Amino acid sequence: MPPVIRFEDVVKRFGDHTVLSDLNFDVAQGERVTLIGPSGSGKTTILRLVMTLEHLTEGYIWIDGKPLTHDRRGDKRVQLKQKEVAETRKQIGMVFQHFNLFPNMSVIDNVTEAPVHVLGRGKEEARERALALLDQVGLKDRADEHPSRLSGGQKQRVAIARALAMDPKILLLDEVTSALDPELVGDVLAVLRDVAESTDISMLIVTHEMKFARDVSHKVMMFDAGHVLEQGPPDQILGNPSHERTRRFLDSIL
Ligand SMILES: Nc1ncnc2c1ncn2[C@@H]1O[C@H](COP(=O)(O)OP(=O)(O)OP(=O)(O)O)[C@@H](O)[C@H]1O
Ligand SMILES: [Mg+2]
Repeated sequence: MPPVIRFEDVVKRFGDHTVLSDLNFDVAQGERVTLIGPSGSGKTTILRLVMTLEHLTEGYIWIDGKPLTHDRRGDKRVQLKQKEVAETRKQIGMVFQHFNLFPNMSVIDNVTEAPVHVLGRGKEEARERALALLDQVGLKDRADEHPSRLSGGQKQRVAIARALAMDPKILLLDEVTSALDPELVGDVLAVLRDVAESTDISMLIVTHEMKFARDVSHKVMMFDAGHVLEQGPPDQILGNPSHERTRRFLDSIL
């Protein structure tokens, strides 16, 4: 089976600033990988490339063995058409630090919007599934409210339900608890632990919650200036890292 995500010789530049240079890694079906590293090391850029929110400067990203935005044809690198990209992107969900819910829609409409308009699901079917997901994240009774009436932690749980409503193969989580008051973090992490245990969605996770990272991830990758400094099982990287740089980084966030 091909990896669910493969980065092959990925380069990302913003102007003449090289953020990722020659990055290679694989994520297997059901594998959960946590990305750590100092601010500016390229973690968000990696997630945004998978979500096709950034243009890939060089190299390839393969999803289930299929090209995401660029294909290799002979010795040529060919950019795919928007329609082809959109087809693959349906399998990928992302939750952001700042929720990004649609403010003018009720909670349940936030969750059913994409399944109805992108996947073409029936409204009733989408609604039933959305209610089940809202139940899973503990917010079934808030379905008809507007997001503005929810706490940050509740908004983030809606955002998770919204991502899951697309039945993604891949879930990207970018510091989803960083903007929350400390007392709201636990509920969001509990929901994500439940998702990790009850599905085989592959996940790329950026977080400063090291206990959570240790519990849910199979692998931790430490980035420094767009390179993988070291990677391995969470116990090794978080508990006994080889690099002084990793040790200093972990000290700084504890
Ligand atoms: N749209 C952009 N235009 C120009 N430079 C950018 C853009 N987005 C990111 N960068 C630069 O790319 C580098 C990597 O940024 P990125 O957001 O991926 O880092 P990060 O590891 O997620 O950092 P943090 O921990 O602060 O979130 C930074 O130097 C950043 O300034
Ligand atoms: Mg970031």
